[in-house]
Amino acid sequence: MKISPNQLVIIKPDDWHLHVRDKEIMKAVLPESYRWASRAIIMPNLVPPITTGEDARLYANRIKACIDKDINFEPLLTLYLTEETEADDVVSAYRKKIIKAVKLYPAGATTNSSNGVRNINGVYPVLGAMSEQGIPLLIHGEVTDPQIDIFDREAVFIEKILAPLRNEFPDLKIVMEHITTEQAVSYVLNEEKNLAATITPHHLVVNRNVMLSGGIKPHYYCLPVLKKEPHRLALIRAATKGDKRFFLGTDSAPHLDSSKIHDCGCAGVFNASFAIEILAQLFDNEHELKNLESFVSLSGAEFYGLPHNRENIILSKSDKKLEIPKKLQTSEGDITLFDPLMSIYWRIKN
Ligand code: NCD
Ligand code: ZN
Repeated sequence: MKISPNQLVIIKPDDWHLHVRDKEIMKAVLPESYRWASRAIIMPNLVPPITTGEDARLYANRIKACIDKDINFEPLLTLYLTEETEADDVVSAYRKKIIKAVKLYPAGATTNSSNGVRNINGVYPVLGAMSEQGIPLLIHGEVTDPQIDIFDREAVFIEKILAPLRNEFPDLKIVMEHITTEQAVSYVLNEEKNLAATITPHHLVVNRNVMLSGGIKPHYYCLPVLKKEPHRLALIRAATKGDKRFFLGTDSAPHLDSSKIHDCGCAGVFNASFAIEILAQLFDNEHELKNLESFVSLSGAEFYGLPHNRENIILSKSDKKLEIPKKLQTSEGDITLFDPLMSIYWRIKN
């Protein structure tokens, strides 16, 4: 890393949690990620979901077909865990390098999760096999019990599901995806091995007031839902101090405006386009630019046991504010870009 007041050279980043969807939307959103990321963990919550090694192989081919040969971008596929998932299929897909991880969605927790897991004990045999083979489990960590308040679902998940699961499988590598609370930060900080967490740009830069105060703003609605300010501050401390257990997963989750602005609007923030510029500004504001590379480019690869990328990106700071476009146009309709509501002076130069 080379760091000077107005320029930063860092290893090219990766995105450890990304939704690229399929077909026309995929064609439109992929360039927003491969502009700055070398690799991305691709979420499997399509309709129908990617549940088998064969589904993942075909999906990887569809993704690669949208990317020119001279572009260096590697999609890292995941499987969507269900109570029907077969351990042998998971292990074989992992050994053949078709998948990098398995995603656990509690049934009903988020967009396209109705096929997720209802009874966690039902997937214990698969988790046992994953633990033996060193296959990471990526967790959407929220309970779905309607009795539990939506703002408490992550904290309750940690206590009721995650802690017992880690007791049962201490050797299973787990990533808590898109953490949003100080409880999740403390839980990760108290564990020594086999546990890490991704953090999104949006949970780092906005809180729930932005979504709910002064009018309801559907483009800030995502899951896990934005939390109050003390939680955001805990996430900033976790992300910006160079702790290897926290790394970038954008959770960029594009939905057409027609699905967001609706009587029952979809959850998801589309932030892939300017994720790195937003984070550079945040780390700069926190006087922690020295730890940006660790968060966006190093720690995730290390957790997954992968080499660092060989390319670099150059970030430069100018007096001119970055203008973030409002919309990405696709042949299916517009998708609104995440507005971080902050002044950004950093840009990617190369
Ligand atoms: C994601 C989506 O739209 O696929 N939405 C979201 O709000 N994050 C699903 C998810 O990651 O929970
Ligand atoms: Zn997601």
